[in-house]
Amino acid sequence: MTIAPQLNLSREALEPYWMPFTANRAFKANPRLMIAAKGMYYTTAEGRQVLDAMAGLWCVNAGHGQQRITDAIREQAGHLDYVSSFQMGHPIAFKAAERIAGLTPAGMDHVFFVNSGSEAVDTALKIARAYHRMRGEGHRTRLIGRAKGYHGMGFGGLSVAGIGRHRRDFGPLLPDVAHLPHTYSREHQAFSRGQPDWGAHLADELEAIAQINDPSTIAAVIVEPVTGSGGVLPPPKGYLERLRAICDKYGILLIFDEVITGYGRLGTPFGSAALGVTPDIITCAKGMTNGAVPMGGVIASDKVYDAFMAGPEGAVELMHGYTYSGHPLACAAAIASIDVYEEQDIFANCARASARWEDQAHSLQGEPHVVDVRNIGLLAAIEIAPKPGEPGGRALAAGNICFEAGVLVRTAGDALVLSPPLIITDGEIDRIFETIRGAVRALA
Ligand SMILES: Cc1ncc(COP(=O)(O)O)c(C=O)c1O
Repeated sequence: MTIAPQLNLSREALEPYWMPFTANRAFKANPRLMIAAKGMYYTTAEGRQVLDAMAGLWCVNAGHGQQRITDAIREQAGHLDYVSSFQMGHPIAFKAAERIAGLTPAGMDHVFFVNSGSEAVDTALKIARAYHRMRGEGHRTRLIGRAKGYHGMGFGGLSVAGIGRHRRDFGPLLPDVAHLPHTYSREHQAFSRGQPDWGAHLADELEAIAQINDPSTIAAVIVEPVTGSGGVLPPPKGYLERLRAICDKYGILLIFDEVITGYGRLGTPFGSAALGVTPDIITCAKGMTNGAVPMGGVIASDKVYDAFMAGPEGAVELMHGYTYSGHPLACAAAIASIDVYEEQDIFANCARASARWEDQAHSLQGEPHVVDVRNIGLLAAIEIAPKPGEPGGRALAAGNICFEAGVLVRTAGDALVLSPPLIITDGEIDRIFETIRGAVRALA
């Protein structure tokens, strides 16, 4: 297969598309284009098969091109393309919410639909503030995020996020935000398998923040149960439990941003089940539709939802929503995705494959430049020592070598970050880590 003839790859022809999170000029000088995908593999414009060790962008959890999802979207588009979800609805949105509630921890039964992870986070933060206001505690407006956290690119998510280079260009963000420290220490945690033993005490920083700011001003704490884009940082053992306990002590809502850990990545439908801590609000997106249609969701506990349902019957309880909230195509994809996850037992495959994944990832310990390996579920990060004065350079070079060898990995700073589709086989796991081994050995 060759590049589609209608595709003009001249710089001029590529210029109209302003690409997200991309070095546009460098990309357009040397474009990397995918033209098809099936299962674990992309087909590049040059006709090469490339193993997708990123599941798209942490989203294609059931693998690419799942026929049932494609058919459901096609059928829905021909049947009901769009209807507003404001003061009207369509049956499939209610069905989708019911199916999703079937996956969530007990007592988390209410789904508010949005279109992305970023919208899910902004919505969750707004729900948290409004929840307290509904209950006569409108003074609770403060939001607590965490260093190295990623919560999408809306102003709300960016405000609670903790990756400096993402925030620096955009002027003042939300006021009344504080940040917990991140949980990573290479000195204490390097080459931990799964959740590190060291670091639970860092949750006590929430206690310190509460004391400085007056706990009764804090609306919510938001964390990714496993920091994803910040470099795959599994929570230290006991850390999330302590956060939960401090939130309970002060009436603070705990929000888990499960945009990555939702839909099976830790071997359970949501990461909170695998990690044994239940938040008050969960945000999700990505695997919700297996990446096939944009969709996000905020899953609220009964406690949160019920607080909104206590006012006058005829009043709109939450002044919030989007034109495409509960879009029929997204709902059809969401239901079909759950069908696929369940029928193909995909979350169980993740749980099964995780042991080999962990072993293979940690077999890189001792290879040149590898200074840490982190893993949990089907997530991993391989930390590569940078050359002095060239942060990220070696990791980028390693990622490029892998791509040339037919394996697509993500580079984030000095780390190679891996999150393959959950349908991965043992052979594909071996291939990913052998390719990385070859790449780091080839590095200068
Ligand atoms: C934890 C987390 N929250 C939110 C987002 C934002 O999702 P989206 O890009 O769909 O807006 C992401 C995206 O990677 C994420 O990893």
